[in-house]
This record gives sequence, structure tokens and C-alpha cells, in this order.
Amino acid sequence: MAMYPIGKSVDEIETPALLLDLDKFQWNVNKMFEFANKAKVNVRPHAKTFKAAAICNKLLEAGAIGLMTQKVGEAEALLNSGILYHEKNLLISQEFADPSKIEKVVGMNVAMGEGKVVTAIENMAQALLLSKVATRWRTKQHVVIEMSHGRCGTAPGKPTVDLAKKLVSLKGLKFRGIYGYENPVVKEIALQRNNRTVETANMIRNVGIEVEIVSAGSTGTYEVTGTYPGITEIEPGSFVFGVGSEGTGYGFKTVNSVYFKSSLSVLTQIIGCNFSDRVITDAGLKVMSSGFGAPLVRVHDEIMSCEGVALSEEHGTIRFQEGSEERKRLKWGQKIEFIPSHCCTCINQHDNIFVIKDKRLAAVWPITARGKYY
Ligand SMILES: Cc1ncc(COP(=O)(O)O)c(C=O)c1O
Repeated sequence: MAMYPIGKSVDEIETPALLLDLDKFQWNVNKMFEFANKAKVNVRPHAKTFKAAAICNKLLEAGAIGLMTQKVGEAEALLNSGILYHEKNLLISQEFADPSKIEKVVGMNVAMGEGKVVTAIENMAQALLLSKVATRWRTKQHVVIEMSHGRCGTAPGKPTVDLAKKLVSLKGLKFRGIYGYENPVVKEIALQRNNRTVETANMIRNVGIEVEIVSAGSTGTYEVTGTYPGITEIEPGSFVFGVGSEGTGYGFKTVNSVYFKSSLSVLTQIIGCNFSDRVITDAGLKVMSSGFGAPLVRVHDEIMSCEGVALSEEHGTIRFQEGSEERKRLKWGQKIEFIPSHCCTCINQHDNIFVIKDKRLAAVWPITARGKYY
């Protein structure tokens, strides 16, 4: 077990290290749940972003009705971490076709209780496999249909209604609703897509089938979608780490002027300082995917302007105008921060996240579902 400098200054943490600013993170969580309480919409945060059981726990305590994961492996790791007490459950948003995954998902429900792991499906082949395995276990696998806005899923309207009708006639399945993830799109498109999702849910109700879950929404659309009549829950993920002018999430964009504070960064040390047009740090692609572009550089809490950042495997090269004032502020051995452009792929590269409060290390949280890409 590694010894970490708990209680000591950030500067004493060995680099590269993934940092979470606890106050900013909490501010983001509070903002999302204050909104949700006011809008009377449920929040099911997408755990593929943050993957750490401790973060899941914080969100569940803040009022999340459950969690979403993209992968069966993520669901397994988080379920087994013991965080989903009482009615809280997991919804796996990505479809799977492998019979061993079908067994795994149904088995999780057998072991932990019916309905603990809900899963998304898009066709009868997957439904039949789930039904067969669940029937063999004498349980019911709870399912939602993914209604497509461009990826997997069924087309909105009749194709989704037809599948729902078939699902309710199958033994071993319980139909819970639909999800229609509309992507982090601009307001006008989100509204059109939400309209299709809610319209389809109502068409299913009109043929006498109960639709409890109507899910959609991302960080970029949480307000548009969370206030759309008929959407019962939203599924944002990267809000915990911030989007905004200096945030992470999907690049540094502010879709629909959404703002959350930048709480995630990679602490890195300057290890090459011999040239007046650049410095080299010890964080490269192995600690931060290039994601949606180069990271931002933060020094003493401020974004530093530079000519560009290039990441290679283990090196981060920050370029400056020859002899610029910014370049002169950086010294060999100094620790600075990168703000990664895509939080989800960055998180997945780390074993732990270092939790910082008042510039000191308060705790080290394992990234529970790290590497669970299956
Ligand atoms: C199905 C689904 N729901 C929700 C999200 C969360 O999006 P965001 O991280 O922008 O909040 C994603 C992200 O890719 C997703 O694939």
C-alpha cells in the first residue's frame, strides 16, 4: 500500500497525479441537485465519467436515484463496491450481445436482488437471450429500450412501440421505460429530440403499457432536458468535473451556456527547463488522453497563456514565445496543473484520484471502475 502525504500540501504529492478540488466538485454537485429539486426531475448520474465509488456515493447521498454505466464491467465493479443500498439501482446504457455478458447481468440481479441492474436493449435478439436466462433463474430482468438519436437503439415512434409490445409479452423481462440520450447538443436540437422521446413514451402508454422511466440529458443539456415535460430523469456525467470557459468535460465548450466549475486536473512537474521557448513536464498521453484537444495549463490557480501544449507518451511540452514573461515564471522542479480536455478518458487512466481541500491532500479515492471498458 502506497503511503500518501495525507494532510500535507499539494506540492508534496508525487507527479503525475490526478487531482479533485473538493470544494469545486461539491459546488457542481450542489448546483445540479438544487436544479433537479426545483425542476422536480430525477438525476441518474452517468458513472462512466467518474468511475470512483466514492464519487458515486457522494452523488447518491446528494439525491441521485441511482447510477448509469456504459459497460457491464463498470456496473459489476460499482455494484460490488457496496454503494447501491436500498432502492438505488444501476442502469447499463450500452447494449451487449455476448451471451457471457447476458449471464453476468442477470446473475448480478440474482445475487443482489431483482431490478438492481436494469439494462438497455434495442432488439428482440438481445431481449430473447435475456428472457431465456432470466427465466432459467426464475427472475425478471428489468429493461429499458434505447430510443435512438443517432447511435444504437430503435427509431422513435412505431419501431420503439412495436418492440415494447413484444417485450411485455416475454417471460423473464420487466419493461421499465425508454431512454433517448440526445447528446450534448444545442438547445433547439435537444428540444426536438426530447419531443420525439416523450411522444414515443406516450405512444407506448396509449397501447396500455406502463412507462415509468423516460430518461435523457447530458451535462450540456441538463436544463433544457431536465425541464422538458415528460422526461422523468436526466443522466449527466461530466458536470462533476466542470464544463465552462476553463472547465473540462467535452473540451472547453459551453454548450447552452452551461457552467460548472473546473474541479479536475493533472498535477505535473517541470522536468526540462533548458530552453527559453518551452518547458517539459512529466505528464503525457499516458495520464491524459488527447481527448478533445490539448489540455489547458494552470499555474497558481490561473490559466496560463502559451503557444500550445503537445502531449507525447510521457512528456508534456508547453511552448512559449521565445523568452516570454510566462516562460520566465516557470522553473525546474515546479509543480503545475494541466486541465484535461476530456475528463472521462482521463479518469480511466488513473488508479486513484487525490482529493484536495484548502490546498492539502484530504483523501485518496480509488477509481473503482478503472479499465472496465468491457
Ligand atoms: C448514454 C449517455 N448518457 C449520458 C451521458 C453523459 O454525458 P455528459 O458527460 O456530457 O454529461 C453520456 C455521455 O456520453 C451517454 O453516452
